[in-house]
Amino acid sequence: LDNGLARTPPMGWLSWQRYRCNTDCVQYPDDCISEKLYMRMADLLVSEGYRDLGYKYVNIDDCWMSRNRSKDGSLQPDPVRFPNGIKSLANYVHLKGLKLGIYEDFGTKTCGGYPGSKFYLQQDAETFAAWGIDMVKLDGCYTDVSDMDEGYPIMGFYLNQTGRPMLYSCSWPAYIKQKDFALYQKIAKYCNIWRNYNDIGDSWDDVSGIIEYYGKDGGNFSKVAGPGNFNDPDMIILGDYGLSYDQQRVQMAMWAIMASPLLMSNNLETVKPESKALLQNRRIIAINQDPLGIQGTRIVKMNGLEIWVKPLAPKGKSIAFAFLNLNHGGGPSKVSYPLNKLGAMSPQGYNVTDGFTGKLIGTYKSKDKVTVMVNPTGIFLGHTPLH
Ligand code: DGJ
Repeated sequence: LDNGLARTPPMGWLSWQRYRCNTDCVQYPDDCISEKLYMRMADLLVSEGYRDLGYKYVNIDDCWMSRNRSKDGSLQPDPVRFPNGIKSLANYVHLKGLKLGIYEDFGTKTCGGYPGSKFYLQQDAETFAAWGIDMVKLDGCYTDVSDMDEGYPIMGFYLNQTGRPMLYSCSWPAYIKQKDFALYQKIAKYCNIWRNYNDIGDSWDDVSGIIEYYGKDGGNFSKVAGPGNFNDPDMIILGDYGLSYDQQRVQMAMWAIMASPLLMSNNLETVKPESKALLQNRRIIAINQDPLGIQGTRIVKMNGLEIWVKPLAPKGKSIAFAFLNLNHGGGPSKVSYPLNKLGAMSPQGYNVTDGFTGKLIGTYKSKDKVTVMVNPTGIFLGHTPLH
């Protein structure tokens, strides 16, 4: 969507994976969906240094609303959990140099059963703008998928008409089984980011399942990614419970290769230092935020090993590549592959560095093979910075 937003993949924090639809603030005062949660996460994005690396969005997900609309039909937050209202939360977040995202649903109800936007699209877009919202995620429960084709663009029109820039995140394709290139082109025209696959949970199975879906690239969806429009493989789960250290490296590196939004869903208060270092790795963030916005693709899949490539700016001069080992058992695997087959063809040759550390792996001619050891459920991320 060419609205000036998401010129690179958006970064921030989103409540869903970690905090779900927890509305019980009596038993879970720190974990329930409430203004306190979002204010605390906003504080932590700043105090822990995330904001200054680009993690700017604080995003509300499902279950923030009151069960009913107000008399004039407006959406309203749950009065107990959001006693000061969303506008005041937006002010709080903005004063910290952050942005506020919100969640609604295109159907009659949100997936959690709260009022949906059907029949209220324009009113809701205006409410969000009046509150100072910066990003809208529009989910797709409780609706007829055949309406989405028209409805998602209409909501985009109303959002745009408010005059307030609001990044538009569509769940539209996630609800459609058969997706071809024409559909993706349309989605890319009307949405800034869009989910196209299952919800992530806090597990390696979820991460590897998403990577496989992106590797298959059904409908060639990778090709519609670029400044203003990105596929969204779902939240970053580093820093919670489900992933080993190697698996956390895989999620970070692969979300960088895939030019994916980096929306963390974790408890920023308890992220371990080693996870925080990955989340804040400037080299990985730079690959993710590369201005060309090209979504990397899988070029080899063999014996549980995969090779992925993402061209970087300036075009034709630099790449990031991943050797991914999806095998669960045994020790590290040796992976060896020539640079020219990765698309690195310059006769000048390349310095290849480790994408995480910047450490020089070696200097190679284009036809030379790069050989490294890759841990089980682990990754080597290579980078060819210009020299
Ligand atoms: C389904 C979406 O895919 C999730 O990300 C989350 O927003 C839930 N719905 C909320 O109910």
